[in-house]
Amino acid sequence: MKQKLIAGNWKMNGSLSANEALVRAVQAGAATGCQVAMCVPSVYLSQVQSLVAGSGIWLGAQDVSAHEQGAYTGEVSAAMLRDIGVRCCIVGHSERRQHHSESDALVAMKAKQALAASITPIVCIGETLAEREAGSTADVVRRQLAAVIHLNGHCISEIVLAYEPVWAIGTGKTASPEQAQQVHALLRAQLRAATVQADRVSIVYGGSMNAANAASLLAQPDIDGGLVGGASLKAADFLSIVAAARS
Ligand code: PGA
Repeated sequence: MKQKLIAGNWKMNGSLSANEALVRAVQAGAATGCQVAMCVPSVYLSQVQSLVAGSGIWLGAQDVSAHEQGAYTGEVSAAMLRDIGVRCCIVGHSERRQHHSESDALVAMKAKQALAASITPIVCIGETLAEREAGSTADVVRRQLAAVIHLNGHCISEIVLAYEPVWAIGTGKTASPEQAQQVHALLRAQLRAATVQADRVSIVYGGSMNAANAASLLAQPDIDGGLVGGASLKAADFLSIVAAARS
């Protein structure tokens, strides 16, 4: 059985001193049995890289350019991320789809750049509340995943997929384990149609995962871990989720 992945998404939070305290506390409490990642703001990647070096914790970024290099002011390439030790990178987070108009095609290009640099893209997909209420959850997530498969079919088994229902992100409203499992199962079926290695792909859940609900979500057969926002900023909460993933 593959190890579960618990990835913290710090979003735009942190400072040199707060980061150091958080990483040290997580390192002190984390043990083997599950893969831990910390996806941090780009200016802090080097700092966190030196803090996690040798610990087994994956250094993660929150975004990557869709381009390889060149005249793209303000952007950071996958090769640059790799250069400073980044192991995984969130792409297509709903906050970027919403505030930066990232399309399915752009997200697929970002995943491709990450894969080319041997960085595991954590590809986020998920429906809005309006889409769920309109009964189009399955269509939306299948469309989002199809774009990534279309561009990255040959190495699709190298991605991590994060199902993050937009209505559950930062709202305290978690998808029930059954709701999440239902979507994860259909994503797994879509991956199986694309690759014989679909079962290698970790499909993690994100959206108000916390110390109280992690165990029941992680017990579902197709939930292979979590992408954790708010609860990743408090070492004790994050460590409780890590512990739930190990049991
Ligand atoms: P949340 O965020 O855990 O604060 O809901 C998850 C995410 O946006 O990745």
